[in-house]
Parts: sequence; structure tokens; C-alpha cells
Amino acid sequence: MQTVTFRIWRFKAAQIDPPQFQDFKLSVEANMSVLEGLEKIRQEQDQTLMYRHSCHHASCGTCACKINGRERLACITPIKDLPARPITLTPLDGFASLGDLVVDMHRFYKNLSADWSYLRESDHPGPSRAPREVKPFMRFENCVECGACVSACPVTPESEKFMGPAALAALHDELEKSPAKAADLLSLAGGSRGVRWCKSALRCSQVCPTAVYPARHIAELRRRGERSTK
Ligand code: SF4
Ligand code: FES
Repeated sequence: MQTVTFRIWRFKAAQIDPPQFQDFKLSVEANMSVLEGLEKIRQEQDQTLMYRHSCHHASCGTCACKINGRERLACITPIKDLPARPITLTPLDGFASLGDLVVDMHRFYKNLSADWSYLRESDHPGPSRAPREVKPFMRFENCVECGACVSACPVTPESEKFMGPAALAALHDELEKSPAKAADLLSLAGGSRGVRWCKSALRCSQVCPTAVYPARHIAELRRRGERSTK
């Protein structure tokens, strides 16, 4: 057991406003995650502390926040791997705060189209184990819709006009899956909310916890857009 301090950004409309940092000291075991630390604080010290979580294993994306200044998933961030003390927790940038570490994700979802597919064929265990009649299993795309890339992007917190790295990555996936839609999708990517905003800072790819590499998708959309106008 060791004692660490979590310095947490607190905000509650009409209660803690303006926002302020609050320190919590807690005893943690060797392999505890930041999310487990937050749960311990909520159980033992302050039941009003707001944060999101669901899966505890990097699948739902809900626990994303800034930990020591960098966007991460709290559930897969071991406390012992964070050299800086105190451990500072702030909400994602570029989203309206609903309270403490919880942000309003409407901005994120409005840029994803319900007409796009968010599924892809699962990696198969191997031809010798797959009976011919079994259809390929489908799985979700790698993006867990955590919003980390939107927060880390130097453009999105400044301008709501940019659809953002995650939406462009999803658009590019859709383009790969549905070539017949290419003209419409490239028109959207090249339009007033699309790739023209990207400054190629690559922060989106650096913070993405599930290796989506949004910057690679944006670069590919740019290439496709340029080819289609020649
Ligand atoms: S692209 Fe990566 S960082 Fe962006 S929302 Fe999806 S999982 Fe999160
Ligand atoms: S709790 Fe689901 S990704 Fe962290």
C-alpha cells in the first residue's frame, strides 16, 4: 500500500462554480488503476464525485479524461505508471462540462452519421478452424468513441465547425467499406467541416487508446480527395 494524492478538477453548477481543484489522499494497492482510485474516493470520501465508467477494460470509452495533462482511459492507466505526483485529473478539453470529470458528448456524436457502419469483419481464428458455412463474425470498429482525440486536437477545442479526428476516421472507414458512396463521402471530407481544418499535429493519433490513428485516416482522405479532383 502507498498513499497518493489525486488532485481533481471539481465543478457543479451553482455549487462548485467557478471550478476549483480538490485534493484527495488515498491508500492504493500496487496494481490499482486511476479508475479504481476514483471509485475508492467515491466510496470512502465523497459520494458527489462525478466521473463516467462502464466496462473497466478499454471497451466503452466512457472513462476518458486528462490524467497529468494527457488524455487517457482511467480504467487502463495504472497509478504506478504515473511518475508525476499529485495525480491531476481534469475533464476532456473542448466539451462542455456537466460536472467534475463528466463532459457533454453531444458534440462528438453529432459528427458521426447513423448511416455509416461501425462494424467490421472480426479477425478469424484461421481457415482450418472455420467451417465453410460459418459466416464471418462481426465486431465493432476499433474506435471506442472516447473523445480523447477531439480533446487533444489543437483545432477542435477552438472550433465547433471541424467535425474532428474520430468522425473523419469513421468516415474513411465507411469509404473503404462502401466504395459506391465515395463521391458523397469525399465531398463531406473535403467540405467546410472536413480535412481542411487539420493542422497535422498528430496529437489525435498519439493519445488514441485503441490504435485508430485518426491522423492516418485524415491523410488518406486528403490523398483521395486530391486524386478525385485531378
Ligand atoms: S479515434 Fe481513438 S481517441 Fe478518438 S474517439 Fe476513437 S478511440 Fe477515442
Ligand atoms: S471504463 Fe470503459 S473504457 Fe474505461
